[in-house]
Amino acid sequence: ILVKPVRGVLRPLSSVVLNRSYSAAAAGARAVLENELDSIRAAGTWKGERIITSKQGPHINVDGSGGAILNFCANNYLGLSSHPEVVQAGIDALKQYGAGLSSVRFICGTQDLHKHLEQKLAEFHEREDCILYASCFDANAGLFEVLMGPDDAVLSDELNHASIIDGIRLCRAKRLRYKHMDLNDLETKLKEAQSSRMRLIVTDGVFSMDGDVAPLPGICDLAEQYGAMVFIDECHATGFLGPRGRGTDELLGVMDRVHIVNSTLGKALGGAAGGYTVGPKPLIDLLRQRSRPYLFSNSLPPPVVGCATKAVELLLASSEIAQSMTAKTMRFRNSMTQAGFTIAGTAHPICPVMLGDARLASLMADDMLKHGVYVIGFSYPVVPKGKARIRVQISAAHTDEDIDRCVNAFIQTGRKHGVIS
Ligand SMILES: *Cc1c(COP(=O)(O)O)cnc(C)c1O
Ligand SMILES: *[C@@H]1O[C@H](CO)[C@@H](O)[C@H](O)[C@H]1NC(C)=O
Repeated sequence: ILVKPVRGVLRPLSSVVLNRSYSAAAAGARAVLENELDSIRAAGTWKGERIITSKQGPHINVDGSGGAILNFCANNYLGLSSHPEVVQAGIDALKQYGAGLSSVRFICGTQDLHKHLEQKLAEFHEREDCILYASCFDANAGLFEVLMGPDDAVLSDELNHASIIDGIRLCRAKRLRYKHMDLNDLETKLKEAQSSRMRLIVTDGVFSMDGDVAPLPGICDLAEQYGAMVFIDECHATGFLGPRGRGTDELLGVMDRVHIVNSTLGKALGGAAGGYTVGPKPLIDLLRQRSRPYLFSNSLPPPVVGCATKAVELLLASSEIAQSMTAKTMRFRNSMTQAGFTIAGTAHPICPVMLGDARLASLMADDMLKHGVYVIGFSYPVVPKGKARIRVQISAAHTDEDIDRCVNAFIQTGRKHGVIS
């Protein structure tokens, strides 16, 4: 029930409840919504939320499952979400700096710990400067509008993350979508954009639904040939791709050829919340002046900043956790392929088990939980129709035994549903 202020005075609730036209409108709206919900259920694309009653980690408690469950669907790639040093850093920051700032950054919401984290993230990515946001979704919503005007062109991979698509919608630049990871099509679009003032190529470093890696060397070649900047969203790469975990640009040897990087603190870097952009100092300075999600949303809470800072410090100090990912990923991918499953992508810890049918993906995921393994089926509209899958995500915190148990559960449920013989 909306209680509308009338000239700054709240109307008494009873006057709203008794208003019959309000009730009739509400009943009509409810019927429309129920109808829409029924059609989602009928299509087999309903997304339920299972209730976890423990910390995030490789072994979790899920409501109603009666015991510890193996978790293969978190973005907790490095197991830092419940790492004791990360948790302690959050507690220390909470005690020293309080629960939150009750302010945006430019009024009275910047503490030394925000500046310290920005500096550490710039150092980690080897870029000039960094700006923190409440989320990477916000980072993506804030960038294009500031950087790109009506005389500019944004060239974007057709399968980019929703936050990028929304961010680009908000800006007034010419928008050109190129076919997924298709360098020929990108070149065609770059030629079309030659009359624009600036060109920005935008791509996910790693695509979250398929676990495939953008062809950055080829993209950078074209960018240099046609005078474009390169922006990558590194949410599914920061912390663990590349020899030191710096990301897709490090993995593919183009750290000095990619200009702007957005990423998240909500995945490998402790998993709490927050996003950021790193890049040239004038760009970051301009974002602090103009970026709407930065200007008009609250500062990140100190405990969140404390946890993320510790996560980045651990990764700057040692590449060991990042390096442990590859062997675990390949153990899963190889065993599953041998068993007859189709796993999309290549060497990334996102391992999509391709099933096709939405209902099959969701039923198999339910059966996996009965075997004590928590995985989730993804279907339309998150992935294209007819390409439903179970997305398995490997973490450095999984043991070899955890991975083998997961594979065995897949073999049993896959046979039951006729996916493998
Ligand atoms: C998760 C994700 C985001 C959103 O990050 P948040 O910090 O959770 O808002 C943005 N882009 C990509 C590619 C992602 O995978
Ligand atoms: C990256 O983040 C900036 C803000 O930091 C945002 O304005 C921009 O839209 C983001 N870019 C992409 C491609 O997501």
